[in-house]
Amino acid sequence: MRWIDTLEAAAAEKLPEAAHRYFRQGSAGGISVGEAVAAWSGYRFRPHVLNDVSTIDLSTTVLGTPVDAPILVAPSTLQRMVDPDGEIAMARGVGAANSVLGVSTNAGTTFADFGATGVPWWLQLYVLRNREITMRMLDAAVEGGARAVVLTVDTPVVGRKEDDGPTIWDLVQPGQWLANLPEGEWTDDDLDKADDLTPDVIGWLAERSGLPVVVKGVLRGDDAKRCADAGAAGVIVSNHGGRQLDGSIPTAQALPEVAEALAGTGTEVYVDGGIRRGEHILAALALGARAVFVGRPALWALTVDSSAGVTRLLTDLATELDHSLRLSGHTTPAALTPDLITT
Ligand SMILES: Cc1cc2nc3c(=O)[nH]c(=O)nc-3n(C[C@H](O)[C@H](O)[C@H](O)COP(=O)(O)O)c2cc1C
Repeated sequence: MRWIDTLEAAAAEKLPEAAHRYFRQGSAGGISVGEAVAAWSGYRFRPHVLNDVSTIDLSTTVLGTPVDAPILVAPSTLQRMVDPDGEIAMARGVGAANSVLGVSTNAGTTFADFGATGVPWWLQLYVLRNREITMRMLDAAVEGGARAVVLTVDTPVVGRKEDDGPTIWDLVQPGQWLANLPEGEWTDDDLDKADDLTPDVIGWLAERSGLPVVVKGVLRGDDAKRCADAGAAGVIVSNHGGRQLDGSIPTAQALPEVAEALAGTGTEVYVDGGIRRGEHILAALALGARAVFVGRPALWALTVDSSAGVTRLLTDLATELDHSLRLSGHTTPAALTPDLITT
């Protein structure tokens, strides 16, 4: 059995039931989370033959940062529930694979501590109702060396999870998340997500931070274009791992429309959601993604074998991508074009 396919069950053995459920679950009826992987597996390839594929080069750049392979780690909260070093262990694992890490607004590690790892990281930002808190967190992330701001836009409110019995929130200890909340007396209202965002926020964040802004949670070409017009350096085609509007289309389906809308703009396109195999990454790259992000598999790998697990996950996926790229008759991600794919 493929090691990656053993990870979730092995993680479930180690985690409290409510934690495992929180990491795996989607919102509401679980339609989007249930469809994500199958949507990638539904693509069919039209491989080239009689091409020299003796030398493969998976390396690329993401917003100018060189990476060994176009496989990055998506931001997720509560990593200290699965590993005592939490996001620092995740960062070390990512660094050893020469990749890039997305760091959640709700991380259990300070942005200064990320900076000290030297691993390239992008701040995932939730703009909160209280813009002062938001700006102070953003400033701290800039100080901690974040190389980009990943603005999550699919969360004007948090998607409803349908739980019976104890939830992860009954288990979370202080210090396991919200390590970057600035000092002060904050109400629940202050900490709610902003539900009044418009494309203007992109320019505001870029100006304030001096960093490229990548908009996460885009599923339509017209919205992707609005982001690019407002100055976004990139978009991530994402339905938040099926955790926001349930029934949102699979990212495998949304990607071609977004890539087409952004063709020629210079805005980089990324995708996440249900990516579990080299063949899925091959399809994503062919359909216009510059790189993919993995979410839950990185959490399972961190649970099972800490930073070494995360490195192995990334390098195993890269090995699979190398293999499938070769079988498709290509030698670099950049050589892939949409005509490789049919549905
Ligand atoms: C447990 C968990 C926590 C997450 N936390 C965040 C978060 O804090 N901010 C965010 O933008 N996305 C968050 N996400 C979404 C991921 O960044 C990503 O979009 C998604 O997990 C990708 O799908 P995959 O898990 O199928 O790979 C979270 C996902 C999971 C599973």
